[in-house]
Amino acid sequence: MSFYIAGTGSALPRKVVTNDDLGKIMDTNDEWIRTRTGIRERRVLTNETLTELTEAAGGQALADAGLKPEEIDLVLCATMRGDMITPSQACLTAEKLGIVAPCFDINAACSAMLYSFEIADAFISTGRANNVLVLACEAMSRQLDWTDRSSCILFGDGAAAVVLKKGEGLIAQTMVCEPARTIYNCAYDGASPFSTVENRKVGLVMDGKETYKFAVNVMLAQMEKVLEKAGLTMDDIDYVLPHQANIRIIDAAKKRFGIEDGKVLTNIDSYGNMSATSIPVLLDENAKAGKFKKGDKLLLVAFGAGMTAAAAVCVWSK
Ligand code: UT7
Repeated sequence: MSFYIAGTGSALPRKVVTNDDLGKIMDTNDEWIRTRTGIRERRVLTNETLTELTEAAGGQALADAGLKPEEIDLVLCATMRGDMITPSQACLTAEKLGIVAPCFDINAACSAMLYSFEIADAFISTGRANNVLVLACEAMSRQLDWTDRSSCILFGDGAAAVVLKKGEGLIAQTMVCEPARTIYNCAYDGASPFSTVENRKVGLVMDGKETYKFAVNVMLAQMEKVLEKAGLTMDDIDYVLPHQANIRIIDAAKKRFGIEDGKVLTNIDSYGNMSATSIPVLLDENAKAGKFKKGDKLLLVAFGAGMTAAAAVCVWSK
């Protein structure tokens, strides 16, 4: 298929919030959070903007790919909500990086990075772009209901970027949405003086148990589907990069496929769930650590509100 991953980058807020820090402001504790989710700490925005982070992550990815801003043909940003509703986060970042190209955001919750891969593939394979900058960012801390201890402890803020370049690398992709609005959503209300809606719930709402069940099923299904599409088995895969929502969901996938230790990459302990940003941060950190060899096959899989889900298999070609 049309592209390979030519560059990566990531940038995280400075503030580290540990489980013990949360225990000081709500009725929770480190033991509960760690054993139920695998999370120890997360990063949270204080006085930084998302744009500062996406600019840093995008700049790193461009440098890593050896590309100048004028060589980028399209900028996508995987996010539920950037610094502004409009202009898009892709526009805000392109302006900072000196890129003049079409820019738009993709909202598919935690699956948005992999949805963006499909869009990049469509542009590159039809000759409309050679180099696509895909950003990801999320300010979950601005969207959470901080009075709901069952959801606000799960998430963190961050940004990341990849440069997708025309060439051989992507082997197969899948994406899906199975509507299930009520179990996991995040509403925004502009408080119009004419609105007659009363007691509208604003902020993230999640039925943890239902989301958990859905997540395990849909993640396993997407992994099976993308392997089948790629004509591969799990034995052919060198590394799995799953969405970082809960270590128990990741362990369920490990068990189902009998995946050996070390093959499934995680960073949920340090960052929690950063929505669409989780997978590209994981990718960037492991790339920078020299984990991937040329020719390694990576399986990326995500799921999120919608409920959306997506997967991709690609060869590390750098
Ligand atoms: O991209 C996002 C996708 N989202 C997910 O993948 C999340 C999927 N769901 C989950 O990860 C889990 O359902 C949670 C971690 C959110 C919750 O774990 P659980 O094992 O389903 O816990 P629970 O909701 O059944 O709660 C068990 C108990 C309750 O107390 P009682 O009723 O048994 O007395 C809760 O009130 O734990 C209590 N509880 C807490 N206690 C301490 C809930 N949140 C907390 C907390 N600290 N933060």
